[in-house]
Amino acid sequence: MEFKFTEDNLQKIEKILEKYPVKQPAVMPLLYLAQEQNGWISVEVMKEIASILEMDEEDVLGVVTFYTMFYKKPMGKHHIQVCTNVSCMLRGGYEIYNSVREKLGLENGGVSEDSRFSLEEVECMGSCGTAPMIAVNEDYFENLSKEKALQILDSLS
Ligand code: FES
Repeated sequence: MEFKFTEDNLQKIEKILEKYPVKQPAVMPLLYLAQEQNGWISVEVMKEIASILEMDEEDVLGVVTFYTMFYKKPMGKHHIQVCTNVSCMLRGGYEIYNSVREKLGLENGGVSEDSRFSLEEVECMGSCGTAPMIAVNEDYFENLSKEKALQILDSLS
């Protein structure tokens, strides 16, 4: 299905592009905007961004596949990312990941049937000093225990 940015987002893109001497470095903020609008980064989204930024579609794809925060398929309303990289792992990251996985009944990359939840095991999200952590969409929850992580899941509507 064709993807077009909303009028509002096109205005934001104009402002973003003013910050750069050339268009291509704006690929990250445009991908963020697109994901906010579309929920995930489809092939059509990448085509549209490549066209706006006069880039090769393969180069946009390279950015999308490199960064875990860009979703390559539709995710749940609450996308749960659990870090199991070194600092989080040493402080119980896998215990948290496994309890979240069991509670949701999802494997890595899975989406619940009602599309409320999706789960992803991720590499370092830059909160090592307050490990272990999870993210729910854009919100970080840090210094967690297994119990606190499960309470967070319970609090999501
Ligand atoms: S290792 Fe988990 S946030 Fe850095």
